[in-house]
Amino acid sequence: MLKNFWYAVEFSGRVGREPRKVTCLGQDFVLYRTASGAVTCLSDLCVHRGGALSMGKVNGDCITCPYHGWQYDADGVCVRIPANSPERSIPRKARVDAYPTLERYGMVWAFLGDLPEAERPPIPEIPEWDDPAFRAVEYEMVVDANYERTFENVVDASHTPFVHGTAFGNPDKPEIPDFRVQQTDWSAEADIELSPPPPKGLWGLLFRGKPRPEYVTVTNAWYLPNIVKLHVRLPIGDLLLYDFNIPLSQDRTLVKILGFRNFFTGGWADANTRKRIEKILLQDRPVVESQRPELLPFDLSDELHVRSDALQVAYRRRRTQLIKQGWWVGGDDVITGDAPRRTATVIASPARRDNPELASAWVHKARNGGQPHDPAGSAQ
Ligand code: FES
Ligand SMILES: [Fe+2]
Repeated sequence: MLKNFWYAVEFSGRVGREPRKVTCLGQDFVLYRTASGAVTCLSDLCVHRGGALSMGKVNGDCITCPYHGWQYDADGVCVRIPANSPERSIPRKARVDAYPTLERYGMVWAFLGDLPEAERPPIPEIPEWDDPAFRAVEYEMVVDANYERTFENVVDASHTPFVHGTAFGNPDKPEIPDFRVQQTDWSAEADIELSPPPPKGLWGLLFRGKPRPEYVTVTNAWYLPNIVKLHVRLPIGDLLLYDFNIPLSQDRTLVKILGFRNFFTGGWADANTRKRIEKILLQDRPVVESQRPELLPFDLSDELHVRSDALQVAYRRRRTQLIKQGWWVGGDDVITGDAPRRTATVIASPARRDNPELASAWVHKARNGGQPHDPAGSAQ
C-alpha cells in the first residue's frame, strides 16, 4: 500500500454533519463536514484510549470522542478534556492526525501522507464528469482480495475472453495484438484491440442493425495509487469505468466505481448500467479472491509476465521505485483486521512534518517508512 497520495475515500453525497467512518491503507478515519460544509478527515483513533471518534458526535467544527468526551477541532487538536477542571491546560500531545481533503468528481479525497502541498502527486483528470454528454453512476462492492490484485485485474485485457466471456469478452478470439504503453510518473495508458461478442439485452436493442466490428479499441489506464480506467467504445457509444481500489486491509478491498455512458443518458437506464457493472465485478471476484500469493510479490521475477501484461509490469516497476522512496505501508502499519495488538500506528499527516518536535509527542506513532514492513517480503 502506498502513502503520500490523494485517495478517493467516499462518495461526497454520503458525508454530512454526522461522523462517517472510512477505511483506507489499513487505517480507520472519520469524515465529517464542519459548519461551513468543508470536509474534515481525522485519524479515527482517539489518543486517550483509542476510542473510535466516528462513534462520537460533531458539534460545530469539533468532534467529541464517545468514551470520555475529549473534543477535537477540525485540525485534530484536542480543545476540551471534560474530566479536567477548566484551569488545567490540555497536553500538547493531545491531538490526532488531520489529513488534507478536497472534493472532486463527486468524491471526497484525503491526502494520506505528510508531503507538503507542492510535492503531492496529482489527482487524475476525469473529463467526463463535467461533460454534459455523459451520465454518471456510482457503484461499490467489497472484494476479499488485496487491492493490488483487484487493481491489476482491471488493466489486464487478456483475462477478458475467459472471465467475461458471457459479458464483453469473446472466447473465440483471445489473442491480444501488441500495444504500446504510454507512461508518466503517475499513470500508464494503452489502447488495446479486443474482439467483442454481440451485445445483449437493452444495449443490444440499440445495437441491432449496426454492423458488428471485428475489433473494438479499449483504452486501459492506471493512475497511482489505486485507480484504473476502462474505456470501451461500443457501436452505440462510449462506456467508461473509473475503478477506485480502496485497501481496507491487506486482504479486503472496497471497489468504488464511477461509471460514465454517453448513450441512454436518462436516469431510467442507471439501474441497468449498475447491473452490468455488477455482473462484471461478480465475474472477477472469485478469480481475484483465489489468487495466491494474496499479496503482489515485490520481486518482478516472482511471477511470469508475457507481452499482454505490459500495463501490470509498468505498475510493478513504478511501485518498486516508490517503495525505495519509503512510501510503502504494510505489516505493522496495518491496524485493521483481526489480529489483536499492543501498538497502533497511523499514517503521518503533514502537521508532523511541520512540527518535528510535536511529531514524536504523538501517542499513536507514525511510521515514516524507508523500507517495507512486511516481514514476509522485501523490496528490490
Ligand atoms: S478514549 Fe477518547 S476520550 Fe477517552
Ligand atoms: Fe475483469
